[in-house]
Amino acid sequence: MCGIVGYIGKKTHGYDVLVDGLKRLEYRGYDSAGICVMTDKKTKTFRSVGTVARLEEKVGTPIDGVRVGIAHTRWATHGKPRVKNAHPHSSGKIHLVHNGIIENYQQLKKELIAAGYTFTSETDSEVVAHLIARENKKHDFAEAMYRALGRVVGAYALVILHEDYPDTLIAARNSSPLIVGIGKDAYIVASDASAIVSHTDRVVYLDDGEVMMVHDGAYTITNLRGRKKTKKTHTIDVDTQKAERSGYAHFMLKEMHEQPHAIEDAMRGRIILADGMARLGGLNSVEKRLRTIKRIVIVSCGTSYHAGLVGEYMLEEYAGIPTEVEWASEFRYRKPLIDAHTAVIAISQSGETADTRAAVREVKQKGGLALGIVNAVGSTIARETDAGVYNHAGPEIGVASTKAFTSQLAILTLLTVYLGRQRNMSMTMGKRILSELRKTPQAMTHILAQHDAIKKIAKKYANATSMFYLGRKYNFPIALEGALKMKEISYIHTEGYASGEMKHGPIALIDKDFPSVILAPKDSVYDKTLSAIEEIKARSGKVIALTTHGTKQVEKIADDVIYIPKTLELLTPLLAVVPLQLLAYYTGVIKGYDVDKPRNLAKSVTVE
Ligand code: G6P
Repeated sequence: MCGIVGYIGKKTHGYDVLVDGLKRLEYRGYDSAGICVMTDKKTKTFRSVGTVARLEEKVGTPIDGVRVGIAHTRWATHGKPRVKNAHPHSSGKIHLVHNGIIENYQQLKKELIAAGYTFTSETDSEVVAHLIARENKKHDFAEAMYRALGRVVGAYALVILHEDYPDTLIAARNSSPLIVGIGKDAYIVASDASAIVSHTDRVVYLDDGEVMMVHDGAYTITNLRGRKKTKKTHTIDVDTQKAERSGYAHFMLKEMHEQPHAIEDAMRGRIILADGMARLGGLNSVEKRLRTIKRIVIVSCGTSYHAGLVGEYMLEEYAGIPTEVEWASEFRYRKPLIDAHTAVIAISQSGETADTRAAVREVKQKGGLALGIVNAVGSTIARETDAGVYNHAGPEIGVASTKAFTSQLAILTLLTVYLGRQRNMSMTMGKRILSELRKTPQAMTHILAQHDAIKKIAKKYANATSMFYLGRKYNFPIALEGALKMKEISYIHTEGYASGEMKHGPIALIDKDFPSVILAPKDSVYDKTLSAIEEIKARSGKVIALTTHGTKQVEKIADDVIYIPKTLELLTPLLAVVPLQLLAYYTGVIKGYDVDKPRNLAKSVTVE
């Protein structure tokens, strides 16, 4: 949520580094973009509403001779997407970009207005610029910044420059992610590694309450009171190619097609088929403790929450461990009962979602075991949990999550076998699940090849204003996920529902213009699902049914049918979600929307 980049270096290509970084971070927000660069001790600031491409148009000829600069791509929190609210924000000679929310900004704003400062934006961020400027009247840049941050309550990743200090760049973090890339002749500070990897693979992850200052080519890291800290540098291994569209019309399309590969990567080295066992190296350190776990709580948001719901069915049925799933945003505001026998699993693609992070902190505070299923290597949740499993799905750029979701399901299957085999699961059952899991990439490839048929269905229903997505048992969460995908990128009002609950209210909405997507694979609840289809058809509702190859009844009653290959019931979600992703994708494209940048959304939600 908001992407920020800062550059300081000997080379004068800062403008290119900043703009390239912004483009890579654009998935974090695209309400507005801005840049402030310094050449010959003078700053130039450009800001525009919309995408980075529009900012570039505004700048015109790329700016040469930039040794220091900051840039921002915004997801609006305080203040509409207007130029005046776009970052960077300035106060005199101080310019900054901010990601996060300053919670006490109204109080600070009042105080600063009374002191004579004029605000030009509606943002919370501008107060920080004025606070630093006020302190800077008496103190140098660094001291002014420390004093100003001492007044700020809330979440921030900040990169700040000062016209009188052309050899200095300051970055500070509290709750919002910030990584420093350490190059040979330059430093790049960014919200995530994607803006850094093409320049250097050496990074320092800033933690909460840390400040990084680059001055005259050297850097120091301190706490918020200026006390120096020593930090480890890490080498990151990110394949930059994976973050390119590689000929696909959209990242979402590319990422859907990458799913078979992502599942292979999630399984690689983790299956010991002969023993029916899963090997999860990231859990080695807590292996003994996991044997004593009597309850699991999964916390996550959005699509990751839906993966958690599938995990609940798997873990209860096959590992025999009572499992609950909670939106992280709710979990932390209840009084969660966590004891030494509870494991909390945070599922997060980005590893930076503010609510999921806060839930992890709450668990650790209560002495519980916090585990992570995280895709972004080195992200905050990956670092803050006690142990965990990486997805290895590679960067996911499309705002609507696809490959991260199916890879989360693959990891949850492995975890089910891992925990199940620690308990009562037989070797035969372990083998069965794992050998079927190994077949899913091929089955997915088969489904993806049906894209033309799915596109036709999308065309037929693209003008619907509302749709139901219904499923039962393992595919109830897939109904929720299918509905979410459709609403995210096609803006059709959709509702995901448990098909058995339809009769208790929602069915009142059904008429000939209100189609339903029904998940009806040949599983243990197949007959019940057939009845749900009949009930909708009896009320003139149109039905798009998703079923397993070889089932004949569905074809007779549904208006349109999409087929998936046969697999074990617990693995049907992994396959069933793929056509629903395609259906949402093609509907969004047919309706002329930019599916990679759906309105009002951001990929990484780093504010609460
Ligand atoms: C945002 C994204 C969703 C994602 C959710 C959770 O809302 O748009 O696609 O599922 O955050 O993100 P996480 O990175 O924690 O999985």
